[in-house]
Amino acid sequence: MRHTPIDQQRAWCALAEHAAGMGRRHLRNLFAEQPGRFETFGRRAAGLTLDLSKQRWSETTLELLLDLAREAGVPEAIRGLMAGERVNRSEDRPALHTALRLPPEASLVVDGEDLVPGVHATLERMATMVERFHAGQWRGATGRAIRDVVNLGVGGSDLGPLMVTHALADYRPEGIHRVDVHFASTMDGSQLADYLTRLNPETTLFVLSSKSFTTIDTLSNARTARDWLKARLMDGHPEGVDTDLIMRQHFIGVSASPEKMADWGIAPDHQLEFWEWVGGRYSLWGAIGLPIALVVGMDRFRELLAGAHAMDRHFSEAPLADNLPVLLALAGIWNVNFLDIRAHSILPYDGRLEYFAAYLEQLEMESNGKSVTHEGHQVDYSTCPVLWGQLGPNAQHAFYQLLHQGTQAVECDFIAPRVRYDDVEDPATRDHLMAQHRLTLANCFAQSRVLMLGDDAIEDEGPRPEYKHYRGNQPSSTLLLDRLTPATLGALIALYEHKVFVQATIWDINPFDQWGVELGKKIAGETQRILEHHRGLDGMDDSTRGLIEAVWRAEAEGET
Ligand code: F6P
Repeated sequence: MRHTPIDQQRAWCALAEHAAGMGRRHLRNLFAEQPGRFETFGRRAAGLTLDLSKQRWSETTLELLLDLAREAGVPEAIRGLMAGERVNRSEDRPALHTALRLPPEASLVVDGEDLVPGVHATLERMATMVERFHAGQWRGATGRAIRDVVNLGVGGSDLGPLMVTHALADYRPEGIHRVDVHFASTMDGSQLADYLTRLNPETTLFVLSSKSFTTIDTLSNARTARDWLKARLMDGHPEGVDTDLIMRQHFIGVSASPEKMADWGIAPDHQLEFWEWVGGRYSLWGAIGLPIALVVGMDRFRELLAGAHAMDRHFSEAPLADNLPVLLALAGIWNVNFLDIRAHSILPYDGRLEYFAAYLEQLEMESNGKSVTHEGHQVDYSTCPVLWGQLGPNAQHAFYQLLHQGTQAVECDFIAPRVRYDDVEDPATRDHLMAQHRLTLANCFAQSRVLMLGDDAIEDEGPRPEYKHYRGNQPSSTLLLDRLTPATLGALIALYEHKVFVQATIWDINPFDQWGVELGKKIAGETQRILEHHRGLDGMDDSTRGLIEAVWRAEAEGET
């Protein structure tokens, strides 16, 4: 079916008209008038339960939103994404992160080539490497087994592996040679400097993770690490250690550019390659996921992929009205474009998901923080909201005040596992921890309820000063994982990836490029040259000139 802008315009106008009335409704009234909202707006797939009943919408709203999704071509876009069409139009390539989690028996032919064998060949190479580490057979230049691995990467080459290794730390296999994984991303070197004071160079290996292998943040950390290894291993050993051996035994490279890895000195058989058609922030499913596999083992890593694949299938096959990513996306569209709610908070109620919000900040805002359509026109509607988050229980003691009584409308996503700690061996500790988990869930459910109902969440306590009132009416979604496992985590991440894609389709923007970050990189390079060489300030704006001169003065004072 062909979709015309007129049809989309009609669907959009119908929603705007509907919003004029709905926008004035309070969630407490929607709940009072419509029993069974949990049934009506709840859906399940791939070990996840999604409750959308606390969105400020009705069944009519959802019908109109589904109509908009159809008119915007969401079903066709999903098919195109999965089939390997060149959906990343500004870079003229497909976005095939879903191919990274296809099972080995699948086949996906793009431009005449079946991608699945290559994907599984890389997984096999990863498996071989992981096995060597876990057998204590990956040895440093002095012959000692590696026991610390530091991932040097930033953005998509850091946040995904960091988030997942933290979330799945309980799944570390037993009976293996233990390897601890650390992450250093910041270009200022502060994270790396800390590791360099604590780790033993003889037993430390660095994974250089960079799709482009040109990112200055990662390469500057890599240079520091290389020189640290050389200085410590060559000087510290009277018999001396060969530089080539250091480069070979202490570095693995993960990139889409084998040439650049080789130029840097990564040994060919210690390079893991991935493809240009995998976007950086969508890349944890393949070689960039090596740190994850080092922590949880390859079997669990494959379970993560299987969970994501289960969500991919659901996304491809479920009707729009039952499709979790589509529904989550539509809730966002409704809030941003029709209720004018442009802030979105991610609130996991499980300490293992500590880095989930940071991960989603990149996934959502780098993907959909755009204002130009595929055809190159400026949009005249809002796109990605400002998204931020924190562990829910900690956020309760930090920014929930604003959610409850501030002036901003904020959409919230609450995320928690239904069950936790029931497998703890010691019965007394198990009881305590399970009680703590119930306490956490109670807080999660209570917060979303107060945000929804405001004062009505409690019995009328008689007259109160104004500052003790809660207005409520803040919309939220709640996502319950059956339990936090590699598979449900995979499904959860894939859910958000696809949500982002559906929203981008409706907003007619490209979620797979990131041109907005390029200019900053270029200007930073020029500024660095000025700072270093003490010349080139002509034509510089007054603020930047003042800041640079302040640094030069401080450096000069330090020298005297
Ligand atoms: O600067 C943004 C960005 O390009 C992200 O999209 C990417 O995840 C990150 O930098 C790191 O890039 P690379 O993996 O090429 O080092």
